[in-house]
Amino acid sequence: MKHQVVIVTGGAAGIGGAITAELVRRGAQVVAVDLDGEAGAGMAGAHPEQIAFLKGDISDGQIARDAVALAVERFGKLTGLVNNAHASRQKPLLDHTPEDWALSFDTGLYGTLNFMQAAHPELVKTGGAIVNFGSGAALDGQKNQASYAAAKEAIRGLSRVAANEWASDGIRVNIVCPLALTDGVANWKKAHPDQYDEVAAKVPLGRFGDPQKDVAPVVAFLLGADSQYMTGQTVMADGGGHMLR
Ligand SMILES: NC(=O)c1ccc[n+]([C@@H]2O[C@H](COP(=O)([O-])OP(=O)(O)OC[C@H]3O[C@@H](n4cnc5c(N)ncnc54)[C@H](O)[C@@H]3O)[C@@H](O)[C@H]2O)c1
Repeated sequence: MKHQVVIVTGGAAGIGGAITAELVRRGAQVVAVDLDGEAGAGMAGAHPEQIAFLKGDISDGQIARDAVALAVERFGKLTGLVNNAHASRQKPLLDHTPEDWALSFDTGLYGTLNFMQAAHPELVKTGGAIVNFGSGAALDGQKNQASYAAAKEAIRGLSRVAANEWASDGIRVNIVCPLALTDGVANWKKAHPDQYDEVAAKVPLGRFGDPQKDVAPVVAFLLGADSQYMTGQTVMADGGGHMLR
């Protein structure tokens, strides 16, 4: 991926951190955008030639424009965008406050939209690719996930429209729904090993995915030429937990 320059939102930790690390391992240059300044500065400090870090909130449209400008300034172009970050609160539908809805939609749907709009002019020049993030919990309509599920499905709808509208611009847009053992999930596994085993047992491949080994390579594939004939697709990187047809 030596000639690729990719923005990764939430790129300092969790699945986004693993995506940043994997893209860098494959030779790409990455602009990681995250609220976590310490983690982001640490990653960029370890790979100053390949990672530029921008601290900021993805729900702010200016941060999206700044990230695109940083990619062009530091690395000369933009070839890919990974809209990974999404913050939300889990609670019953009737307990959701306007702030809960705003958090999920501002960081999920509007964060994704902000970066897509800001990146479009540069991605047109490079025939770039966008990878957005959905969730199996949203496909299932899992309890306590009202604002999260609604925003995730809005992201999938937005992605399909963009895939149609921007195909003639040479821009592909796909969606990944991951299942991954991030630090947060690992802590939960430690505290509730029986619950973890129960959930993992329902996954045909019998475990949660590894963020860097199981999810990041799928994102890398969707950013690269090997997926040049794929757009508008939802790709499940979840051990077979959901089998779309
Ligand atoms: N972990 C899973 O199994 C799983 C399952 C389904 C979907 N997903 C999706 O995958 C993506 C990544 O999940 P994760 O588990 O790594 O999340 P996470 O919460 O562990 O990490 C998200 C990263 O985004 C950053 N972030 C949060 N809000 C931000 C904001 N407003 N602006 C900038 N950065 C912000 C955080 O600082 C963190 O570094 C999300 O879209 C999530 O919904 C994850």
